[in-house]
Amino acid sequence: MSTETGHVSSKEWNLHYKKFTPQEEKLRETLSTIGNGYFGTRGAFEGSHASSTHYPATYIAGLYNKVPSTVHGKEIFNTDFVNCPNWLLVQLIIDDEEINPLECDLEEYIHDLDIRYALMTRRIKFKDPKGRITEIESRRFASMDNPHYAALSYSVTPLNYSAKIGLKSSLDGTIINAGVERYKALTSRHLTPVDQGHIDEGIYLQVETNQSHVQIAMCARHHVFLDGKRIDPSIDQATTEAFASELISFDAVENKTYTLEKIVAISTSRDALTASPIDKARALLTRDISWEHLYYRHRIQWRLAWRMSDIRIEGDSFAQMVTRLYAYHLMATSSTHTQSMDAGMPARGLHGEAYRGHIFWDSLYVLPFFYRRFPEVAKGALLYRYRRLDPARTYALEYGYKGAMFPWQSAEDGHEETQIIHYNPVSGLWDPDLSSRQRHVSIAIFYNVWEYYNYTQDEDFLHDYGMEMMLEVSRFWTSVAEKDPKDNRYHIRGIMGPDEFHEKYPDREEGGLDDNTYTNVMTVWLLEKMLEIIDRAPEMLLKRAFEKIGMDKEEIATWREMTTSMYVPFIEKDLMSQFEGYEKLKEVDFEAYRKKYGNISRMDRILKSENDSPDDYQVAKQADTLMLFYVLSPDEVVRLLGRLGYEICDTDTFLRKNYNYYIKRTTHGSTLSKIVHASIAHHIGNHKEAWNWYVEALKSDIYDTQGGTTTEGIHCGVMAGAIKLVTFVFAGLTFEEGRIELAPALPEHWKRLGFRLRLRGRFYSIEVSQSEVVVRADEQGERPLMIRVDKKRLTS
Ligand code: BGC
Repeated sequence: MSTETGHVSSKEWNLHYKKFTPQEEKLRETLSTIGNGYFGTRGAFEGSHASSTHYPATYIAGLYNKVPSTVHGKEIFNTDFVNCPNWLLVQLIIDDEEINPLECDLEEYIHDLDIRYALMTRRIKFKDPKGRITEIESRRFASMDNPHYAALSYSVTPLNYSAKIGLKSSLDGTIINAGVERYKALTSRHLTPVDQGHIDEGIYLQVETNQSHVQIAMCARHHVFLDGKRIDPSIDQATTEAFASELISFDAVENKTYTLEKIVAISTSRDALTASPIDKARALLTRDISWEHLYYRHRIQWRLAWRMSDIRIEGDSFAQMVTRLYAYHLMATSSTHTQSMDAGMPARGLHGEAYRGHIFWDSLYVLPFFYRRFPEVAKGALLYRYRRLDPARTYALEYGYKGAMFPWQSAEDGHEETQIIHYNPVSGLWDPDLSSRQRHVSIAIFYNVWEYYNYTQDEDFLHDYGMEMMLEVSRFWTSVAEKDPKDNRYHIRGIMGPDEFHEKYPDREEGGLDDNTYTNVMTVWLLEKMLEIIDRAPEMLLKRAFEKIGMDKEEIATWREMTTSMYVPFIEKDLMSQFEGYEKLKEVDFEAYRKKYGNISRMDRILKSENDSPDDYQVAKQADTLMLFYVLSPDEVVRLLGRLGYEICDTDTFLRKNYNYYIKRTTHGSTLSKIVHASIAHHIGNHKEAWNWYVEALKSDIYDTQGGTTTEGIHCGVMAGAIKLVTFVFAGLTFEEGRIELAPALPEHWKRLGFRLRLRGRFYSIEVSQSEVVVRADEQGERPLMIRVDKKRLTS
């Protein structure tokens, strides 16, 4: 069993490419994005502009703009993740002629992300058409110490000539959103110029988003060094509207290295305690800062972050490197700096424009990475939801429900952001999009709140915020569910499950399906949990929570009833139906489609392009019913079904039967599906299959196995999910009822696996090898939690 494939060199702390490959460049840009939870900047070449090869872009957490577009004569609105001004831009000019190194003869090329210290380096040695050989090396980082700083150092060495060299350094606010081909027909201009010009030793730029009116300010300071000493280059101002720029020139001598240090301060009117972003950005640059000092402080922060988050895998350098890379990208997307920004956990990171930076249910997969290591970051993401409870209440009311119905896609103000039409690249047509019916996002939010509390025991959070969200979500589901006098059971109708291929019944106009098993069972789970929390809550706090949302205890009686009388559709004994009537849908001839199209993961697009519909078939984009076994343990699913009066033979047979049925019908058009299937294969003891799914998940972003989606942004869900598989499957870690359980199942070639955990205020380090398990608890604090290894108790 090995993961070693492909062209990425797998030094364990480096993502390293040794050759410039234009067709891979956008993927590499995504994967070498630098970020600090405040902003993310793609790893584009400094001299590049948006083109078919490059896409330089910077995104700031929570910074959106909503603009209208006309499609088919209809006006639609989209809230976009704004591509902020490009602060990277440095163009090379030799003897007054602009040279694009990437269009010259490349003698050496290195593009590297140092994962440990979050530093991106690119070194290019090239010969231009005049025979001049030049080496340039750029290094950049997004400060994890003070997230408002971006720092670039750009060195140039003329290797066989002396000449006048110019570096034209700019802040470019003329850019548009052009990162996703499918969105090309939509409005893409979001920035209005405000001001630009020169400051002492540099330039500044101010723009404003044209609908949300967020001011974005950037200031750049330029210093040039020769052999470590500052020199005084000549400066020519080159600023035009929305484009602050200066040409920095010096007489360069053969074999000497000249380094431009460009330190950029970024601030927006969304920043806390910021009356004037431009004043703030300027003030940041007047401080006595240097590239080296900023980098030194940045390294300290990353060292601290890795102390908690590093997962060490001995014996598999590819899995080691990718695990670190994925952990890095999660921390670059959301960090303690994100907490004060009121930004959620975007499904595609701060790395691209896919899904417009929106927040989905993916936090269900992503937050476990954080609450076991950096609970305060998870709390920030949950507070983002809390602050949007009111729009969720209004949304529920609009549909005639009570409580809070969170939107399927959320951005700035907490309203529903899901498109109503979706572009189909297979047919070239815009299809209706009913996916906002995925009300299960509210289940994910409840689950995240509960898990956060379970891992941290943060009572203050629970009583000040969590409880209110959970009560409103419980209320919501109770109001959606209807008791049918025919069977005396509760039914949830007109909603979609996680499988996005099924939006409605073939013979119905309106969207939604009835009795989605995942939703119904999870509703029972959450109501049970809610009742437990209510039973345990101090009387005074409970009263306060009830009063706050105008709830009386009678509502709870229905909740209790629902936990024993929810309906769950079955196809036959021990085989759950994805939703009522699923088994009546037609079967797909997968082989025929595979022959015709090769990759059939997006069967929805294929079927629609043939004037057919996935609604008519038993075909799923991703795990739906099987989600139950991922979110809850298989025994818990069986227990809940038993409580509802559905007798199940035995957990193992039940699990296999459902797995075998659905896996044949699932095309894994979402990377999330791989995570779920890996963990279920593990539950049924099929280690080989679990391993194969794990490898699929691991490869999905680094090799962009979906064929183009990673170029538009990372998939935070699969990244965090792949990391969870390492701890959950290979170390066999679970945490239930305040007990750490380990049941290791290391792959044969893994010699050792080590990681840290933060649980209920205590730190643990866990080392697993083929022959032993070592658990260390930190020395301070209360007694450690109960720990069991292979069901044997280590502490009590
Ligand atoms: C998946 C959803 C997911 C979304 C954002 C879609 O392709 O089907 O489950 O929430 O991507 O990651």
